[in-house]
Amino acid sequence: MTLRRGVVVLTGAGVSADSGVATFRGPGGLWEGHRLEEVATPEAWARDPVLVWRFYQERRARLSTVQPNDAHRALVRLERRVRDADGLFTLVTQNVDDLHERAGSRELLHMHGELTRLRCERCDYGREDRASVDPDAFLPCPECGHERLRPDIVWFGEVPFHLPAIDRAMAACTHFLAIGTSGVVYPAAGLLMLAREAGARTWVNSLEAPDNLHPDDTFLPGRAADVVPGLVEELCADWGLG
Ligand code: OAD
Repeated sequence: MTLRRGVVVLTGAGVSADSGVATFRGPGGLWEGHRLEEVATPEAWARDPVLVWRFYQERRARLSTVQPNDAHRALVRLERRVRDADGLFTLVTQNVDDLHERAGSRELLHMHGELTRLRCERCDYGREDRASVDPDAFLPCPECGHERLRPDIVWFGEVPFHLPAIDRAMAACTHFLAIGTSGVVYPAAGLLMLAREAGARTWVNSLEAPDNLHPDDTFLPGRAADVVPGLVEELCADWGLG
């Protein structure tokens, strides 16, 4: 009996860098001029909601100015071909932009949340919202009347989304690709080792070797938009997928 192919792809900020979206750990360790703790923690939101809201509203407004790149599109081709051949495919992204779905990815888990969504910090209310991008106006919750919705983003100290679904994908993983992630934020950074230890073949693309790289991983340095299309073609040829 042959093992059903289970492909898991983990992406990070580097996959969107070629679309013009800033990575988190750029030169100087700042994210768009802010320390992460200033804008990406529940404490920051409690301390200075005006600053945090403005920061995310600017990111939300900018989404409509960026487009998917060749790496996003190549991952769509990989998904289609693997699924057409009755394999399992899951794309786990740490990115909060919507470039994977706009490229056409379907089996997609946003483990750190989505800029395109807002939710109430008091009740269960949440909605997709791409239009309300005024940096100076909080939006009240239409459900419970609380004065402000928050970005539907997983901040430091909060539990990532979709962990049970990620566990299920990892349990069936035979081939694992990590693309454009520095390998320092857990639990995402632990998936590469989990895959390797479970016997999956592993590929890593990034500009420089990430913290969690192991000699058994196939490391492909370079820009994702240059590297990923070739990797996808090579894998599909190896696997006999048209
Ligand atoms: P980082 O900013 O930590 O790392 C980006 C990685 O992408 C680095 O390894 C770069 O070498 C690589 N890179 C940059 N440009 C690239 C390109 N054009 N092609 C390929 N690789 C490139 O981003 P993440 O690892 O995604 O979490 O960060 C993980 C998490 O930290 C984020 O999801 C966010 C942040 O705090 C939360 O907001 C909870």
